[in-house]
This record gives sequence, structure tokens and C-alpha cells, in this order.
Amino acid sequence: MVSADAVHAGQAAYKGWILKWVYDALVLGFSNHALWKCPTSGLLDLYNANVTSNHLDVGVGTGYYLDRCRFPDPEPRLALMDLNENSLSFAAKRAARYRPETIRCNALEPIPFDGPGFDSIGVMYLLHCLPGSMAEKAVLFDHLRPLMNSGAVLFGATIVQGSAPRGAAAQRLMDLYNGKGIFSNRQDTVEALDHELGKRFPRRDIALVGCVAVFRAFAD
Ligand SMILES: C[S@@+](CC[C@H](N)C(=O)[O-])C[C@H]1O[C@@H](n2cnc3c(N)ncnc32)[C@H](O)[C@@H]1O
Repeated sequence: MVSADAVHAGQAAYKGWILKWVYDALVLGFSNHALWKCPTSGLLDLYNANVTSNHLDVGVGTGYYLDRCRFPDPEPRLALMDLNENSLSFAAKRAARYRPETIRCNALEPIPFDGPGFDSIGVMYLLHCLPGSMAEKAVLFDHLRPLMNSGAVLFGATIVQGSAPRGAAAQRLMDLYNGKGIFSNRQDTVEALDHELGKRFPRRDIALVGCVAVFRAFAD
């Protein structure tokens, strides 16, 4: 059973000053490359290869990828979803040229959205922030599936443990983040994520890059 406190902890770190001064430099500039061994440039490539002109992003953080990626159309429909108001407003400002709509909600609960569906959904670095086992986190996919148009792609990445290779510094930082509730990935494995995606999507691919599981799943 996932507690409300644990859900709160998974998004509480994203304060305005962290988003403005720390996140891009520390996570995207340093940790991805030096600790998780999954360079940000590769994750941006994932966006460029999969983002469509009708895109929903869930767990938006600073909106870095939305700002930097190449949408196939200069005027995409863009929706941003996050539990944290700071992340939503920071990312919305950064992507203001696309006039995004914003939806504030907890992705672990049914999503109050009845607008038109999307052709792509990004869930970058969201799952390792969500509390619970991989089976409990995967309800996120059940909530997002009805928002996907036929043939739509859901893509993202998440930091995992299990057999994923990670150095001592990476493990120490993961332990620290898990202790504070910023991460909840002690039991997350690439195999468990693959299993949950396979239960819900007819076609998916998943690969480990460093200790990051990078994945895509396609709606029928
Ligand atoms: C690690 S950041 C990822 C930011 C961005 N996608 C990236 O890769 O740089 C995680 C984001 O997920 C949001 N988040 C955490 N728990 C959430 C939840 N239960 N529902 C919706 N969003 C959540 C946080 O507020 C934060 O914006």
C-alpha cells in the first residue's frame, strides 16, 4: 500500500530554487553522465526520435527536454502533467512558446482528463520518484493508457537497481535519495519494468544504459 506521505516525498524536492539553480546542472549535467552512466544527450535523442506534435509529458521537472527536443511541427499540442505546482509552472514558462496546457495531478491516481488523446507520452525519470513496488507504480500506465491514441508511443527512462551496473558513488547517492524519499527505487529492476509493460502493451522495447532503464511501449 502506497502512503500519501511517500507520494508527497517523491515530488517535494522540486522547489523553485532547485528547479532554477540546481536540477539541470546536477542531474542532467553531472549525475546522468558521471553516476548513472546514461548521458542526457542520449535521453534527448529518445525525445527527438519519439516525440510527436500531440504530446503529453508527465513528471516535467524543469522542462529541459521539452525545451530542447525537436517537435515534428513548429506548433505542437503540448500538455504538461505533474503533482508539483513548481515543476508545472517552471516547465510551462520554459515551453511557453508552445502554449502548453497544464494538468496538476498525482499520476498514481486516476487522471481527471477527458480531452482528446495524445500520440506520444513522455515519462522521463518519473518512475524512480514514485513509491511502491514496480507493480504498484505501474498503475501509472493503466491511468495513461486511455489517454493514448491508437498507435501512440509512451516513452521514458528510470533509474533502476537489481543487476544494473552502478559504482560506489552512484549507489551511495541512490541510498541517500531513497532515505529521503526523493527516490523509491530500491526494488526497481529492468526485468520488473519489462514485465509490467508487457502486461499492458502489445509491443515494447527496453534497454539498460548504465543503471537507467530506457523504454518505449506502443498502444494497439
Ligand atoms: C526527477 S523529475 C523528472 C523531470 C524531467 N522529466 C527530467 O527527466 O528531467 C520528477 C518529476 O516528477 C514529478 N512527480 C513526482 N511524483 C509525482 C506523482 N506522483 N505524480 C505526478 N508527478 C510526480 C516531480 O514533481 C518532478 O517534476
